[in-house]
Amino acid sequence: MSLVRESMRRFFSSKTLHIRRLLSISKSRQSSSTVTLMSGDGVGPEISTAVQKIFAAAKVPIDWDPVDVTPVRTPDGKTTIPQSVLDSIDKNKVGLKGPLATEIGKGHVSLNLTLRRVFDLYANIRPCLSLPGLQTLYNNVNLVTVRENTEGEYSGIEHMVVDGVVQSIKLITRNASLRVAEFAFAHATANNRQLVTAVHKANIMRMTDGLFLKCCREVADRYSDIKYEEVFLDTVCLAMVQDPSQFDVLVMPNLYGDILSDLCAGLVGGLGVTPSGNIGQNGVAIFEAVHGTAPDIAGQDKANPTALLLSAVMMLRHMELNNFADRIESAVLETIKAKETRTVDIGGMASCSQFTESICNKLQQ
Ligand code: IPM
Ligand code: MN
Repeated sequence: MSLVRESMRRFFSSKTLHIRRLLSISKSRQSSSTVTLMSGDGVGPEISTAVQKIFAAAKVPIDWDPVDVTPVRTPDGKTTIPQSVLDSIDKNKVGLKGPLATEIGKGHVSLNLTLRRVFDLYANIRPCLSLPGLQTLYNNVNLVTVRENTEGEYSGIEHMVVDGVVQSIKLITRNASLRVAEFAFAHATANNRQLVTAVHKANIMRMTDGLFLKCCREVADRYSDIKYEEVFLDTVCLAMVQDPSQFDVLVMPNLYGDILSDLCAGLVGGLGVTPSGNIGQNGVAIFEAVHGTAPDIAGQDKANPTALLLSAVMMLRHMELNNFADRIESAVLETIKAKETRTVDIGGMASCSQFTESICNKLQQ
C-alpha cells in the first residue's frame, strides 16, 4: 500500500511541478499569430521546410518561431525539453511539431509526453480520411479518434512490489474524462458529425472505464442531437476492419486511443498521411506528425511531408484561418491523387521537394 502511495505521490508532485513551472512563465502570455515550429529530428527538418514553403506560397498570415528541441540534461542526468521551447509555446499558444527521437534508457521520458503533460493537452484528435486516388483496402473512411491525452495508462505510476512483481496504475479522473468527452461532442457538433462512440472495457475495468463511461453519458445527455453509443474496444477493432464507415467520432481513454488511432491510420495509408492535434485549455494546442524520425532516409529528399502538412491544416482551422486551410488541403489532395506527383512511400515517384513544388504551383495558379 505504501508503495502505491509513494508512486502516486511522485505522479502528483511531477504534475504540480509542471503546472508551477507553467504558471511562472505564463504572465507573458499574449495572443499572436506566431507559431512555434519544432522541426524535430531525422526527416523532421525536410518536412518542416516543405510546410513552410507551402504556407509561403499560400500567403498564410502567420510567422514562424523556430525552436530547437534538442533535449537538455537535468541535474539528475535525465533529459528534458529546453525551457526556451516551453517559453515559446507558452507565448505563442500554438505549435507545430515534427517527429522527435527519444533517447532510450533509464529515466528518459518521451519528449512528446512531456509536452502533453506540461501544457495539459487533454484531447488528442486524429482525423482519418480516405485520400482520393490512394488505393487502400477501404475507400470510404471518414472518422475521428478523440483520445484522452493526460492520464489513464500513461500516468507513469509504476513500481516494483517485490522482485519479479511490478505494478502499474491506470488513473482515471472525473475531471479529465468530462473534458475529453465534452471535446468529442463539441467537435462532433461543430463538424456536422452524427455519432459519438465511447470505446471501453468497463466489463473488466469496472471502476476506471466505468467512471469514463459515466462522464461520457453525462455529456451525451446535453447533446441531444448527437447519437451516442458505447462499444467494447475489442468489438470496435473487429468492426472497424470489417466496415470503418459505421464509425464517426470515437472517444476513449489514453492507451486505447494510442492503439486504435494507429489502426485507423492503417486503414487510409498509414502514419505518413495521418494528421494529429493535441488540444489544451485556453487555446493552447500542438499539432504534430506522429510517425517516426525515419533516420534511414533522413537528408535524402525522400520523406513524405503529408502528415505534418495535414496537421498544419488542422492547426490553421484551430486558428480560424479556414480559407487558407481549405485551399492548402485541396492542393495537397490534388497532388496525392496523381501518381507521378506522389512520394515513393505511397506508390509515387516524386521526391519531397518535387511533391512540395507541385503543391506550391497549384496554390500560386
Ligand atoms: C503517439 C505516439 C506516442 C504515444 C509516443 C511517441 C510516446 O505513439 O503520439 O501516438 O504513445 O502517445
Ligand atoms: Mn501512438
